Amino acid sequence: MIIAVDGPTASGKGTIAKALAAHFGLPHLDTGLLYRAVGRQCVLNGGNPDHPSDALAACAFPESLLLDPELRSEATGGLASRASVHPAVREALYDRQRRFALQPGGAVLDGRDIGTVIAPEAIAKLFVVASVDARAHRRFLEMHAHGRDVSLEEIAADLAARDERDCSRKDAPLAAAKDAVVIDTSTLKREEAIAAAIAAVDALTQTA
Ligand code: DC
Repeated sequence: MIIAVDGPTASGKGTIAKALAAHFGLPHLDTGLLYRAVGRQCVLNGGNPDHPSDALAACAFPESLLLDPELRSEATGGLASRASVHPAVREALYDRQRRFALQPGGAVLDGRDIGTVIAPEAIAKLFVVASVDARAHRRFLEMHAHGRDVSLEEIAADLAARDERDCSRKDAPLAAAKDAVVIDTSTLKREEAIAAAIAAVDALTQTA
């Protein structure tokens, strides 16, 4: 049973994917973390994530980098988005994601192209969306809880720029698979969003 959870940044897809994994007893892979590691490694190498050869070289990041809290920062998210436009980078990360998806028993993966490219055969594909305002507000609360003093306007501008890049890139742009169930979390509380996702997966697995 493969569950694909795609959507833009701060839509709630990570929270939903983690909760689905716990509910169905499946392993979970946050694929954004891999792209974040590439963006971060690129800078550590003194490279530029806009340059395909620098970004590709950074795909050889050490496993220990995945544990670095700096990967969760907005700045690293931006680097990841820039590195992720290069087809060679997407190809370099493909096998690892594909192997994770094909584990016996199944898996939950969240990202941008899980239902369209990594695991198009997934039994359940969710596309999690929320308004820019709702996403910016959530990010704002999260960042202030971590003592980061960033304005709501800055966060909204950053999200919009990231959406634009993730949706307009040629290779595997952020897009809902034709058979994805869209979950709009704009007005949902955390528990409501999780319940909606579990209900959607139950419905999809029962009709399959
Ligand atoms: O989900 P996230 O914010 O951690 O992702 C960071 C960036 O990585 C995102 O802006 C685009 C890229 N990404 C991608 O291109 N494909 C994925 N499956 C996951 C993330």
